[in-house]
Amino acid sequence: MYATGADSSTPPLRLPVLLDMKSEARKIVAATAYDATFGALLDRNQVDLILVGDSLGMVVEGRANTLSVSVETMLYHTRATARGVKRALLVADMPFGSFPDPASSFRHAARLVGEGGASMVKLEGAGYVLDSIHYLAERDIPVCAHLGLTPQSVHRLGGFKVQGRGQDAAETIRQATSAVAAAGASVLVLECIPASLAAEITRSLPIPTIGIGAGPDCDGQILVCYDLFGFGNGRRPRFVKNFLSGAASADAAVADYVVAVRSGAFPAPEHCY
Ligand code: KIV
Repeated sequence: MYATGADSSTPPLRLPVLLDMKSEARKIVAATAYDATFGALLDRNQVDLILVGDSLGMVVEGRANTLSVSVETMLYHTRATARGVKRALLVADMPFGSFPDPASSFRHAARLVGEGGASMVKLEGAGYVLDSIHYLAERDIPVCAHLGLTPQSVHRLGGFKVQGRGQDAAETIRQATSAVAAAGASVLVLECIPASLAAEITRSLPIPTIGIGAGPDCDGQILVCYDLFGFGNGRRPRFVKNFLSGAASADAAVADYVVAVRSGAFPAPEHCY
């Protein structure tokens, strides 16, 4: 069966390519987008993975955290972003409360893939989430896991703080990373953990790690697109770099980000914990 309506001049980047990139030590460049315009901007500048993140609750809706984002909202933004993306692998976040058990997880994830156009869904955490990761992966929904600082755990963590400092905390994260990979996750986001811990995890896992505030040795890097352009007006996290400053255009800023990640120039030591 041949696909109709696809633009054959821009073959989409499929999951096996991400796995090849890890084994060939080619960095994966990722960023968030929430609409067709930003999706197209990232896509035409060769960003490999575009995440429709539930961070939209904060950067688009102006809330203090991500907890109020619904599946319907994620669907709306995933559909919109998908219209702008031709090449990159599109990942949709599963919002808070949408993956309490495997069957509910599948119902929501299938909508994000089937109606929204995502090729993968992202779930924060391990523990009870492992059953859902396994259930989805077994049913042909590729999963991106997310560990370290998991923003949906903001109340338990007591804020948006660096995780994995100290031996016990590091060991908890090490065990969780092995568990999500064993459960069937295909990709792992590591957020705000010491660079040395992320490097060790990246070496030990068969799946690609994508870091945000996790140092230069992850298999790839991700930034919230508004941070990449310096649009934030609050306290700027240490791992953020404004690529628009000094660039001639938004396209040039994204192109600079892509080059900086691929070459290993970003993140620099000042962006790491
Ligand atoms: O929601 C989001 O944007 C994310 C990234 C920060 C990884 O989870």
